[in-house]
Amino acid sequence: MNGMDPLHGKRILLLIGGSIAAYKSPEILRLLQARGARVRCVLSTAGARFVTPLTLQALSGEAPRQDLFAAEEEAAMDHIRLARWADALLYAPISANGLARLALGLAEDLAGTIALASRNPRFLVPAMNWAMWEHPATQRHVAQLRDDGAVFIGPEAGDLACGETGSGRMVSPADIVARLALELGPGDWRGRRVLVSAGPTWEALDPARGLGNRASGRQGFALAQAAAERGAEVLLVAGPCALPTPVGVQRRDVESARDMLAAILEALGDRPYDLFLANAAVADHRPASASAIKGRKGEIPDSLPLVANPDIVASVHACPQRPHCIVAFAAETRPDVTTAARKLWRKGADVAVINDLEAGAMGGTENACTLAWGEQSLNLPRQSKLSLARALLRALDPCLS
Ligand code: C5P
Repeated sequence: MNGMDPLHGKRILLLIGGSIAAYKSPEILRLLQARGARVRCVLSTAGARFVTPLTLQALSGEAPRQDLFAAEEEAAMDHIRLARWADALLYAPISANGLARLALGLAEDLAGTIALASRNPRFLVPAMNWAMWEHPATQRHVAQLRDDGAVFIGPEAGDLACGETGSGRMVSPADIVARLALELGPGDWRGRRVLVSAGPTWEALDPARGLGNRASGRQGFALAQAAAERGAEVLLVAGPCALPTPVGVQRRDVESARDMLAAILEALGDRPYDLFLANAAVADHRPASASAIKGRKGEIPDSLPLVANPDIVASVHACPQRPHCIVAFAAETRPDVTTAARKLWRKGADVAVINDLEAGAMGGTENACTLAWGEQSLNLPRQSKLSLARALLRALDPCLS
C-alpha cells in the first residue's frame, strides 16, 4: 500500500448482484483494501444466495447493506448518503436482471436507489450465461447504460459456470481492480505515448542454448503499469519473461537484442513517443554464430566467439523520430553514480537511472535507484518495484513538459 497508488484513499461502494460469480466478490474487496481503498458493500437479495453477509463483514469490518427498508441500516447511513459517500460504484457481478433494472432506473431495491442517487463514476462487471449476455434485450440495456455513462468491465469469453463456453465470464478480480485503478487514476499523462523496454534478452547459440541474464522484467513491467495508471498510451517491448501484461498496456514479445531494436524502431516509425524508458537488460554481446540444430556435447567449442550487439539507446537517440525524453538504466554493484550516469548520457539518454544490484535490482521484488539529469540527482529509497516506478515517473514530470 502506498500514497501514490491511484486507489489509495478512494471510497468504493461494491454492489454484489445475483450471479454465481459473486463468490469472487470478497476477493475484489480484499484486493481493493490491499491497495488502500475504503470499501463498503451492498449485497442484493440474489447476491446473498451466493456469498454470505458474514464473509463480507469479516473482511470489510462492516456488515454489508442489504435492505432499503431496514430501519437500523438506514439510521446508520441512509441510502442517499451512502451513494454520495462513494467516489465510485463498482457493481461486480451484475446479472442480466441487474442490468435491466439499472437501465430502466428502477428504484425498488437498495442497489437501484443508490445507482439513481449517485452522480459518480459507475463500473459494471457483468457475469451471466452467454445466451443471456448476447440476447438483444440485454444488449439494449448495455447500450442504454453506456449512453448514460456507465463503464463496462468485461465480460470475457471463456468457460462459464453453467458448463457452457462463450462470452459472459466475469473479469478476474485482479483485472477488475487494475482497470479501476486506470479509470480512477489522475489521468495527467493522457495523450502521452510511452515506450518501455523490459526483461532480459536471449541470444541463441542453438535451439536449446544461449546467453541470457537474470533480469525478471518486474521493474520494466511496473514502469509500464505506472505510466498506464497515469493515463498514458503504453507500448511494452518485453524480452523473454513470464509476467502478465499490465492492464491497459500493449505488449510485444521479443527474444534477442536485435529483435528488440527492430520492434522499437518499428514502433517509433509509427507515431512519435514522448518517453522511452529503456529498462531492458540488453545483452551487450551475442554468439558470433548460431546453429539451427542443437549441437552435441563434444561439438561445443571451449571458447565462444562473441560479437557486439547494437546499442538500442544509441540507435533510438540517432533515430529521426527520437522520443522527447530517453531514460536509460544501469545496474551495477556499488555503482559510482557520476561515472555510470556519464556513460548513459554519452549514449544519448537525457536521464540516467542507476540501480545498485545489491538493492535487488535484478530479479528481486524491491529496488532503489538514483536518477541523474543535467546537474541534478535524486535518490529514491528501497521500496517495491511498483512503488519505485510511480515515484520515478513523478520525478520525470519536469523532463516531459
Ligand atoms: O552500457 P550499459 O549496458 O550499462 O547500459 C544500460 C542501458 O543501455 C539500459 O538502459 C539498457 O536498456 C541499454 N542498452 C541498450 N542496448 C544495449 C545494451 C544496453 O540500449 N545493447
